[in-house]
Amino acid sequence: MCYAIPARLVEIKDNIGIVDYFGERKKALIDYSDVKVGDYVYVQGGILINKVSKKEAEEILEAFKELFFQLKKIDKNLAKVENKTASKNLLEILQKINLNKTLTKDELLTLLNVTEKNELKILFETANNIRQRKHGNACCVHGIIEFSNYCKNNCFWCGIRKDADIVRYRMKLDEIITASLYAIKKLNFKALVLQSGEDNWYTEEILSKIISELKKLNILIFLSIGERPVNTYEKLYKIGARGVLLRFETSNEKIYKELKPESTLKQRLQLIKDLKNMGFVLATGFLVGLPQETDEDIINNILLTKELKPDMYSFGPFIPKEGTPLQSQKLIDKYKILKIIAITRFVDKNSNILVTTAQETLDKNLKKLALLSGANSLMINLTPQKYKDLYCIYPRNNDSNVERLIEENIKLLYSIGRAPLDLGLYKDLSN
Ligand code: 5AD
Repeated sequence: MCYAIPARLVEIKDNIGIVDYFGERKKALIDYSDVKVGDYVYVQGGILINKVSKKEAEEILEAFKELFFQLKKIDKNLAKVENKTASKNLLEILQKINLNKTLTKDELLTLLNVTEKNELKILFETANNIRQRKHGNACCVHGIIEFSNYCKNNCFWCGIRKDADIVRYRMKLDEIITASLYAIKKLNFKALVLQSGEDNWYTEEILSKIISELKKLNILIFLSIGERPVNTYEKLYKIGARGVLLRFETSNEKIYKELKPESTLKQRLQLIKDLKNMGFVLATGFLVGLPQETDEDIINNILLTKELKPDMYSFGPFIPKEGTPLQSQKLIDKYKILKIIAITRFVDKNSNILVTTAQETLDKNLKKLALLSGANSLMINLTPQKYKDLYCIYPRNNDSNVERLIEENIKLLYSIGRAPLDLGLYKDLSN
């Protein structure tokens, strides 16, 4: 979980610290030299990344304290399971979930096929209740900078595939640093995802340079740059990258082979496992709604993600993009996405589940519903405005500038009692 209000370091054992937020204690891997018990620190994705002076920390905590407990109350109220009407079968499955029993595939399929209004309600409320019990009201809010839309691959689903007839861009080192500095110094972000197509123009050397510059800012750096040699990732880890976002896209080998011809599912999964073993904070997941995908595939996707032991689940609906081979594919139903979020929460109760931009594209109200159905994490697009429309993996609305996006997100989070602690203090928006 990512709290980016300061925490007090209360215990150190080897390289693991115990940190305290208003009485809540969490474990954190220490990735910052020169800290001792009693210091105030920032933790992101379970990693202690920076120190903050006592004076500054106490000021922030004092200002946030009241709001923190107010939000907690709102969240707790919304996380009650009010509706109890459902079929005997569904109630039995939910009972099994509450007793921490493993559900069979058939039971998971039953959950995915719930359609009746009251039953959907109990499903989503139960997932939200578990989310609240496991994570409290914290919500990770990470920023993403899409730094290049060049790609050497031709994935059938993707709007920036190599053969797509689009205007291409690459951000230079100084542009990436400027955008990151703005995100960190002005907008208070403590974790940034750097995303691009698979673009080998950014060699290991160039990527190393970007990371070593960003590392000086003491943030959590996530990479979402696709398949690169294991030793490149090893080097980037050494320099200071700590997170990777790499989806396996689909667990169905046949679909994978047809739609992502340049790689194999086996090699992608191996890389994901290697990255996890290297110590990266791992975000992974899949696309929902690819052609020929069955409900069983969806359940397999959830279970495979769990097997990979992700620190964060990232999945979203496939959104057809004009000019790609899958342009005529039908959009999936938004309730299916919500059910997948809820089922993920049931099968991996402690998980972090991201609301992805594609979910928002599918339906503008989906973000709030997703957060109330088990999700607990958000990403905000910090790509410079002039490049946003060019990063057209799928059609999306890029109208809001960054400041407005943040304001909209914070308002939404406050309305449902979530504390966007990664962004620090936005107390003025609470009324
Ligand atoms: N719709 C939704 N998501 C997509 N992605 C690629 N193309 C699409 C699309 N048309 C997702 C993939 C990839 C991530 C960066 O974007 O899952 O891993």
